[in-house]
Amino acid sequence: MENINWKDLSFGYIKTDYNVRAYYKNGKWSEPEVSNSEYFNIHIAATALHYGQEAFEGMKAYRGKDNKIRLFRWKENAKRMINSARGIIMAEVPEELFGEMVFRAVKMNEKYVPPYGSGAALYIRPLLFGSGPEVGVKPSAEYTFMVFVTPVGPYFKGGVKPVNMMICRDVDRAAPMGTGVFKVGGNYAASLRAIVKARDANYANVIFLDAKEKEYIDECGPANFFAIKGNTYVTPKSDSILPSITNKCLIELAESLGMKVERRKVHVDELPEFDEAGACGTAAVISPIGKIYDPDTDKLVEYCKNGKPGKVQMKLYEMLTGIQKGDLPDTFNWITILD
Ligand SMILES: Cc1ncc(COP(=O)(O)O)c(C=O)c1O
Repeated sequence: MENINWKDLSFGYIKTDYNVRAYYKNGKWSEPEVSNSEYFNIHIAATALHYGQEAFEGMKAYRGKDNKIRLFRWKENAKRMINSARGIIMAEVPEELFGEMVFRAVKMNEKYVPPYGSGAALYIRPLLFGSGPEVGVKPSAEYTFMVFVTPVGPYFKGGVKPVNMMICRDVDRAAPMGTGVFKVGGNYAASLRAIVKARDANYANVIFLDAKEKEYIDECGPANFFAIKGNTYVTPKSDSILPSITNKCLIELAESLGMKVERRKVHVDELPEFDEAGACGTAAVISPIGKIYDPDTDKLVEYCKNGKPGKVQMKLYEMLTGIQKGDLPDTFNWITILD
C-alpha cells in the first residue's frame, strides 16, 4: 500500500498511477486504454470547452476489514451518467463499458485504496465530454470518456459535526426545465458565486431555493436536503435537483426502519418545524445541519442545540457507512466486491 498519511488526507486531488480512457468516433466506442498521464491533448474547438458538453460522476470504493475492495451502487452512477448524456445530447457510455473502466481504474490503483479504519476512501471520477471540433452550437460528433481515481480523507475529521447553511435567493443553480437534474459541469459553474459568498460569510454551504417561486428548498450546494419530523423522512421533490444516490439509500434505509418517507415540495417556512435537517451526498454521506440562516429575512433556524447531530440521521449514517465498509450485511445488494 502507498505510503500516505491516510488520516490527514483532505477531499482533494492526489496523483495516482493510472487512468482509463475510451473514445467515441464514427458512432462507436473504442476499446478502453490505460494512461499514466494526468493530461489530455484536446482539440481547440472541442465542444466541451466552448459549449459545456461535459458530464461527470462521483463515487467511492472502500476497503473492508477483510481487506476486500467494495464499490458502492456503481450501476446507479452509470445510469445517471447515461441520463446526463441524454440531457445535453452526448454519446451515452454503455453501463458495461462504464463498469469495466471503473473496475480497471480502481484495480490498477489498488495501492491507493485507503486502509480499513482510516475513514478515507478512494474517490472515483468518471468524466464524459465532447472532444470533437465544432464552431456552430451543436453536439459534438466525438466524445471522450475517462475514469480517474484519487484517495480522499474523511469529510469530517474527528467525527460527524453539524454544519451551518445560508439560504440563497440571489443566484440560481439551475432552472426548472433546465439541466439541474443532470450532473453537468455548467450547473456547478452556475453555483460557484453562491457557494463562495456563503463560504466567505463562514457558512459551510448554501441552500438553493427553487428558481421560479423562491419559496421551496431545492438543494444544499452539491448535496440533497433532507429533514426528519417525528417518524418521517422528508426530502424535496423538484425538477431542478440532482437525484442523489445517497438520498435514495437513506430513503430505503428509513423505510426499512419503519419510517414514513415524504418526497414533496418543502417550503422554507417549514424549516422550524423539523426535528433534524441534513445534507446528503457521496462526499460526506450526511452533513447534519446545525443552523440555517436566511439573510433576506434575518431568520435563523437552529437544530442540534446541544452541538450534536440528530439521533435519527446518525442512525441512518451508521447504517449506510456500515454497509459501505462491509461492517454490516449488504441486505440491499448495494455492494460489488472487486476480485
Ligand atoms: C448538485 C448535487 N446534488 C446532490 C449530490 C449528491 O449525489 P450523490 O449522493 O449521488 O453523491 C451531488 C453530488 O454528486 C451533487 O453534485
